[in-house]
Amino acid sequence: MRIVIANWKMNLLSKDIEAFCAACVSGYKPKAGVEAGIAAPYIYLKDVKAKLGPCGVKLYAQNAHFEAKGAFTGEISMAQLKDIGCDGVLLGHSERRHIFGETNANLVKKVKAAREHGLMPVLCIGETLEERDGGKMFDVLREQLAVLKETGAGPLVVAYEPVWAIGTGRVATVEQIREVHAFVAEELARNGAAGTPIQYGGSVTPDNFAEIIQVPHVAGGLVGGAALVPEKFLKLIEQAQA
Ligand code: 13P
Repeated sequence: MRIVIANWKMNLLSKDIEAFCAACVSGYKPKAGVEAGIAAPYIYLKDVKAKLGPCGVKLYAQNAHFEAKGAFTGEISMAQLKDIGCDGVLLGHSERRHIFGETNANLVKKVKAAREHGLMPVLCIGETLEERDGGKMFDVLREQLAVLKETGAGPLVVAYEPVWAIGTGRVATVEQIREVHAFVAEELARNGAAGTPIQYGGSVTPDNFAEIIQVPHVAGGLVGGAALVPEKFLKLIEQAQA
């Protein structure tokens, strides 16, 4: 299975979202074996759901708390996401890890909680440039994936997003993607998650995606900037479907 997800991050306003969803409703042509999704800001999730209607594009949140309910002011639970019709949730995005202190220990709880509530967890992993240049890349990725030893088996998507390629316009080379995705596939198998779809993310655009999607063990994309433009998002989906 391939899966293309637009991660809107903290972008777009109601009027943009209306136009985006309308473009999806008229332009999205589902095809077996390829899923499409939008990871919208919490406050717009219900709106996106309603505006997408039954067109087939799935709904993702960008994070969630691991507790089902309780005194956690400002947080959103997996139960609440499920309640409003979410299909999945991004977990451990590098911006959550680096700006908001997300930890692997918390991610164990979040992956479990997502599965308990029937949400597809998209576990994001990736090394910084410093880690890559310092020869620590594989150790970092191995540790991030070790979360899966503690979660046990279950539904899962992994997104490999080298931090240095996110929002920089500096996409990883096909060779770099090939090397890491082969490693991630092996690690997933070692952790009991063989066959998990592995997305690539980081400066993906319709200009580079057709080539990236052909790399072995690349099963789609997690896309920021380019996926703020509906025509580009739809083009990326078509490229995954080709
Ligand atoms: P860009 O596509 O803007 O580089 O963002 C990638 C990303 O972080 C998606 O989660």
